[in-house]
Amino acid sequence: MKVSAQKIWFDGKMVDFKDANVHVLSHSLHYGNAVFEGTRAYKSDKGLAIFRLQDHTKRLLESAKITLLKCPFSKEELEKAQIDVIKANEFKNNTYLRPLIFLGDGEMGVYHLKSPVRVAIAAWEIGAYLGEEGLEKGIKVKISSLIRNSAKSSMNKAKASANYLNSQIAKAEAIDAGYEEALMLDEEGFIAEGTGECFFIVKNGVLITPPNDFSLKSITQDTVIQIAEDLGLKVLRQRISRDEAFTADEAFFTGTAAEITPINNIDTRVIGNGLRGELTKLLQNAYFDVVYGRNAKFASMLTYI
Ligand SMILES: Cc1ncc(COP(=O)(O)O)c(C=O)c1O
Repeated sequence: MKVSAQKIWFDGKMVDFKDANVHVLSHSLHYGNAVFEGTRAYKSDKGLAIFRLQDHTKRLLESAKITLLKCPFSKEELEKAQIDVIKANEFKNNTYLRPLIFLGDGEMGVYHLKSPVRVAIAAWEIGAYLGEEGLEKGIKVKISSLIRNSAKSSMNKAKASANYLNSQIAKAEAIDAGYEEALMLDEEGFIAEGTGECFFIVKNGVLITPPNDFSLKSITQDTVIQIAEDLGLKVLRQRISRDEAFTADEAFFTGTAAEITPINNIDTRVIGNGLRGELTKLLQNAYFDVVYGRNAKFASMLTYI
């Protein structure tokens, strides 16, 4: 994913893209403590609208609290800054927002509480994360040899940079093996999540998605559950085993970046008829109606620029 923008919001100021730099001795580069968000703004009929801005910003600050990063900006200041950075770049198309709270330079050593906390918000125009074709035809997924970070030793409710080492290795392994994404299991062998997505299956007309015991508390997963219930579909939050995934009628990923991406194959088992499933398509269309501001029932989820 190539990134291009004119301006980046950095520690309270709007700076030129080329000036948003850090020192090589920045603490986060060495010890991995940083938290971030991924938020989308969609090109609606009434201009760009940020989807669930307040929820993403709340999760950002909760992530910072979990990893002991004291953010010097309030939730309201961060929300305004995200709107400002889109305005400053004059983006006209779908945009991705990347707020990052991290530790700058000045102190080395594992003890991080003396390091300066810095905040940057970048934004760039974006298309489909797993490809336009992926949205329509689905993707091939490999169950990873890596187990998702354990609740005993890490904190998955934080969208923490450190948690993504596990994701990166799993994703690289899956791509190297000829797949498009990895699916990670929890310590007990049930499906946890993708490297940057939550997981759903459809079985006999019922939607099933795991509880967030071993995954990020996903805003898209929550949105999809709300939409499904609004459409009168039954949704179960329960653990999914590998064999249940193989024999699902439909399967898909959800995430801010991935939106709703159908899965057509897991570890060489064709899912359903190998095409985007009917309920997956119904939910995709309904999801796009919501994020593009075409469903008045969900209008409060949008912040217009
Ligand atoms: C590991 C992981 N799980 C799940 C998700 C989906 O979360 P959301 O729907 O809030 O973007 C993401 C993306 O943020 C993620 O990185």
